[in-house]
Amino acid sequence: MAFLSDTLSRVKPSPTIAVTTKANELKAAGKDVIGLGAGEPDFDTPQNIKDAAKAAIDAGKTKYTAVDGIPELKKAICAKFARENGLTYAPNQITVGTGGKQTLYNAFMATCNPGDEVIIPAPYWVSYPDMVLLAGGTPVAVECGIESNFKLLPAQLEAAITPKTKWFIFNSPSNPTGAGYTRAELKALTDVLMRHPHVWIMSDDMYEHLVFDDFEFCTPAQVEPGLYDRTLTCNGVSKSYAMTGWRIGYAAGPVALIKAMGTIQSQSTSNPSSISQYAALEGLTGPQEFLAQNKILFQRRRDLVVGMLNDAKGVTCPKPEGAFYVYPDISGCIGKTSAAGTKITNDEVFATALLEETGVAVVFGAAFGLSPNFRVSYATSDDVLKEACTRIQTFCAALA
Ligand SMILES: Cc1ncc(COP(=O)(O)O)c(C=O)c1O
Repeated sequence: MAFLSDTLSRVKPSPTIAVTTKANELKAAGKDVIGLGAGEPDFDTPQNIKDAAKAAIDAGKTKYTAVDGIPELKKAICAKFARENGLTYAPNQITVGTGGKQTLYNAFMATCNPGDEVIIPAPYWVSYPDMVLLAGGTPVAVECGIESNFKLLPAQLEAAITPKTKWFIFNSPSNPTGAGYTRAELKALTDVLMRHPHVWIMSDDMYEHLVFDDFEFCTPAQVEPGLYDRTLTCNGVSKSYAMTGWRIGYAAGPVALIKAMGTIQSQSTSNPSSISQYAALEGLTGPQEFLAQNKILFQRRRDLVVGMLNDAKGVTCPKPEGAFYVYPDISGCIGKTSAAGTKITNDEVFATALLEETGVAVVFGAAFGLSPNFRVSYATSDDVLKEACTRIQTFCAALA
């Protein structure tokens, strides 16, 4: 349509949201559907956080706030970085936005010029390439296959860097694979980055608190202090504190970049919800036991899902270090025909047939830039997961 902008033609709607919408539609139509598409915890926000929000409303904290966050929240975020990551930031190095998504978007909008390249290890969170495109930059996807447990190798990073590279996006634990980089693996990447001073690092630490066994989370500016001046460390309360609907994310970095991001925000949305900011403040400063309990819960679910998916014919499911996703490979299913007669030519056909024939909704791998795979979000109850995995096993066993 001539009315629509050229910018719009560069991007597509989020496929993960599309899967959730389709599953909800089928459910509303009375179908027995299990949705494993949504990327959010299945439980409620902790009571102390809800109470803080109610108190904020009653105290009249219902007006505009400073564009990129109330001072109390910025201070709490500085304390969080010092406490959990050994990183020292001042409040003027912090920006708070409407979800992690907005802070990442602001960063691209504030920095990308036409021709600027952004290195994105694939599989990636679906929004990275489209945000880069919206900002006028060029996403450069680098495939990280199952053989490296979906992790980028130093030689791959070195080969992807050009004089035009502006950003390298690092996401550990990862959406969609759950893969987490050890300190040694990350150090090998930061060593490469130290040799290329024009490249900035955007670290998306959204799943920091969801790591399992004895895995230790680490972030680039912590592992290599030499990168501090060109790293934007991004995080948020959505996943860790079960606060996806509240829409609070934050980032820390050099003052000039943070200021530029604030300028973008001031002319688009202004401040994130005042009430949500007070809720996030309670999340970051209140009791933290909730985080450890979640880890135990999600680790049990991960083990359940990995075990059952590896028992499905034609499916190989690596065991991830964190997040609440697994990303099984389905090479062994491609080329076969389902019980209802669908030829499985790629992972999108697989996911559609799985939904139509068994009612299990997953997101196909092509959406994340690495095929043939699918993503399962295991942020749902053990019983639901068992039923879903049993249906996947039955579907795969019938492929011929
Ligand atoms: C890797 C990653 N980064 C950022 C976000 C955005 O989080 P928020 O809901 O706070 O915008 C998500 C949400 O799915 C994510 O998976």
